[in-house]
Amino acid sequence: MSVRYLTNFDVNHLPTEQVDFLIVGSGIAGLYTANRAGAMGARVLVLTKRTVEDTCTERAQGGIAAAIGAADSPLLHFDDTLVAGADLCNREAVEVLVNEGPERVGELVRLGTRFDRMGSELALGREGAHSQNRILHASGDATGAEIQRVLSLQVRQEQKIPVLERHFVVDLLVRDGQCYGLLAYDEAHRRLCVFWSRVVVMASGGAGQLYAYTTNPEVVTGDGIAAAYRAGADVMDLEFIQFHPTVLALRNGPPFLISEAVRGEGGILRNALGDRFMPRYHPDAELAPRDVVTRGILSEMELTGESRVYLDVTHLPTEQVYARFPNITRTCLSLGINLTKEGIPVAPAAHYVMGGIKTDLQGATSINGLYACGEVACAGAHGANRLASNSLLDGLVFGARIVERVLGSGAGRGRANPPVTFSNSGLKPEKPINLVALRRQLQKMMLERVGPVREADGLGRALGFFDGQRFLTGFAAEEPETFEIRNLLTVGELVAEAALARTESRGGHYRRDYPQPEERWRKHIIFRRH
Ligand code: SIN
Repeated sequence: MSVRYLTNFDVNHLPTEQVDFLIVGSGIAGLYTANRAGAMGARVLVLTKRTVEDTCTERAQGGIAAAIGAADSPLLHFDDTLVAGADLCNREAVEVLVNEGPERVGELVRLGTRFDRMGSELALGREGAHSQNRILHASGDATGAEIQRVLSLQVRQEQKIPVLERHFVVDLLVRDGQCYGLLAYDEAHRRLCVFWSRVVVMASGGAGQLYAYTTNPEVVTGDGIAAAYRAGADVMDLEFIQFHPTVLALRNGPPFLISEAVRGEGGILRNALGDRFMPRYHPDAELAPRDVVTRGILSEMELTGESRVYLDVTHLPTEQVYARFPNITRTCLSLGINLTKEGIPVAPAAHYVMGGIKTDLQGATSINGLYACGEVACAGAHGANRLASNSLLDGLVFGARIVERVLGSGAGRGRANPPVTFSNSGLKPEKPINLVALRRQLQKMMLERVGPVREADGLGRALGFFDGQRFLTGFAAEEPETFEIRNLLTVGELVAEAALARTESRGGHYRRDYPQPEERWRKHIIFRRH
């Protein structure tokens, strides 16, 4: 579902700008990397497709994991991450994550992040598949918003780094394996523009909008993965999609996340008959790895014929619930659910892509000058299933490593000027199609056929769907909505292809027709265009 470029252009006729460090995305990975590179004197520019706060980070509730508790250690965190990752983690990447995590989190504290405390100590919560309390949180259940606040302030006010909002990255400009910059669409001026840069850092998030039901904001359409793939970068592990087990499931209500921390505090899952069911599926019951809880919920939904189950906290002290989850309490109340008196209706929703642009331990991709960190990237730290609250940590740790690698080694310094001949022509003018309808159709199809439970027949039909849309690649994409649908189609097809190829079940990839993990599949699926 992809050609080299989404649109026709000629860089000689476009406005251009030159920087050292071009960062795409304004969540934790993008802003932290920008902040660190700026502090080291680099000329940094951040591009973001909508506003700075339109990110998954802003919505993150549960928190950020780091082995800082008295009884904890990076080794325990390492073990938990490996177990959740279902034997597919890159052990070195996990070592980096858990060993460097505490220092990065300490830095967030020094920058002014107000994590919750118990007395003078940082308060540490528990989430699924963690053997220790190691989740730092802020304002109870609004951790991401606090981190976003601090990093936005640092980038814009302290470091005075320019952030260009409503700039959509259309395509990367790569020649002979070297990335020179990118082509973007400036929404305010409704025109294409070019940014040349020594280094491009993709930190543009995942692809939750592939699915009809997701915790991700509308902007999360796989743009970074698709652009990197079109440019020839390796992309890896895309079949592993994490569904968050507990997302508010009200008819016509928002897909609002009910943090895993609620189960960490003692929340119990009950089916529509009021029965607690998770002990039947896993010894850790509600705190089993997410894929296990998700499948447990789906089975109960099927058994009872209901489209949801219930997360029950009515047995917990009211004050505890209010204090620990003010945001969830408020949102539920505003939607008519008093969670201290009744179960919260929940169902699984797409939450996180374990795969992404393949990187090494310093965030370098298979293209020189192109780096990636955060959810868009895949260094293998999450294996087949990410451990809760390791994602914010990942953005910090690998973002810092990119800056260290680039500015420490002088990578890209003194590179020749970019070739002036980047251009593309021959695509027919954009075809007017009903983009909203196509997006809905794709999301519904992905949920049904490439969702938490898959099988060959459905995956084959999914690939047939993508074949049916291939004619679109002969037409230019000229507006953000069109870029988005084209990127979703590209990434969706890669997810379906990888899911069909992997004839086993592991972590976030479950095949009804191959329900067991297979030793011969303890390996990665990597795609490169052509
Ligand atoms: C949650 O609060 O449950 C989400 C945390 C995560 O996805 O790591």
